[in-house]
Amino acid sequence: MTRMEPAPTEPPEPPEPASRTRRFMDAVDERLGIRAIQYPVPSHANTVGYSLGGLTAVSLLILIATGIVMAQFYNPDPAFANESVRHLVRAVYLGKYLRGLHYWAAEAMYVLAILHLLRIYLTGSYKRPREGNYLIGVGMFALTIGAMFTGTVLKWDQEGYEALSHNLEIGKLLGGLGFWFNSDFSGHVPLLVRLYVAHVSMIPMLILGLLVLHALLVKRHKISPRPDNPAESGEPFEPFTHHLRRIGALGLVLLSVLSVLAIVFPPGIGSTPVEGIEVTKPPWMYWWLFTLENWIGLPGILWGAGVLFALLILLPFVDRGPERHWRRRPVAMILGAAVVAFLIVLTILEAVTTPAQHLMGG
Ligand code: HEM
Repeated sequence: MTRMEPAPTEPPEPPEPASRTRRFMDAVDERLGIRAIQYPVPSHANTVGYSLGGLTAVSLLILIATGIVMAQFYNPDPAFANESVRHLVRAVYLGKYLRGLHYWAAEAMYVLAILHLLRIYLTGSYKRPREGNYLIGVGMFALTIGAMFTGTVLKWDQEGYEALSHNLEIGKLLGGLGFWFNSDFSGHVPLLVRLYVAHVSMIPMLILGLLVLHALLVKRHKISPRPDNPAESGEPFEPFTHHLRRIGALGLVLLSVLSVLAIVFPPGIGSTPVEGIEVTKPPWMYWWLFTLENWIGLPGILWGAGVLFALLILLPFVDRGPERHWRRRPVAMILGAAVVAFLIVLTILEAVTTPAQHLMGG
């Protein structure tokens, strides 16, 4: 019996020696599993509409970075607060720019969160199974408004003081529920110091905690398919790292725009507050509430905010149909447009009104 000789074949190519970087990345990945973020996402996730959440997160990062630096120079003692902001702007290297960047990043975060919310509304992305993540978004939006409010008070000028006075009165309207806004709650710590703690620690920590849950749930449910192009239609997929790179590039554009705004239109600061007068207007995002206050008094602020958030919370429980394309959801579109138009009209009305006296002490 003769043994069959195997046919002569080319010797196999020796494997290419892994580059140093590759070996380093392999070693890191083996320990930290970083390549898990290369999971595939559909290419529509890279469009501007689906990048608004990422840009909101970039604004938050800018706020945290600039806030940490400013906290080294801000003094929350009511006797020194206003002067410490003036000193930051006048005497600290890059202080004026950092404060401007913080201010404009806050405006950007607010506007981008609203645009993100509108995208979610238009594409019906709040529907099953994303209701829970939508509610987490509503929570982050409420916290963003809280951060805006506490930030406005910190500079401790007339605008900040009047914002706080309104809140003290609303705290009284809330009865026992408003205990945190009462100066007696903690007799040895001024309310301004507690608002500062909320602004630099409680609110950012809550937003960051919710943001981690938000991102994990986006990964778990996958980004919602385009309403006009369901997943079955063979849309190409790309690694999530490509999406991150795109958000990074858009984020740099955002940072540049905000830097220009910070330099050209730096936020002002008024002199230390005078008690018992109402002469300033609140920041523009609260104007709609102040028209309601002009109409029905202080409770208008409470009712306006309560109704808006009740509507936002109820939305995914009321609108449960499977349809997600805006053309096939005429009722949702008409009602949504009516709410947005109402808010814009209320905002414009406050813009053309001179501040009025509402507070009990005034
Ligand atoms: C305030 C800070 C917020 C941040 C930083 C944030 C961030 C993000 C990011 C990065 C995504 C994935 C990409 C995208 O859709 O843009 C996302 C998706 C989502 N967000 Fe937000 N978001 C915020 C607020 C909100 C709000 C206010 C809502 C709604 C009330 C919301 C509801 C959702 C939902 C439902 C998704 C899933 C969208 C889909 O699968 O199409 N988020 N968010």
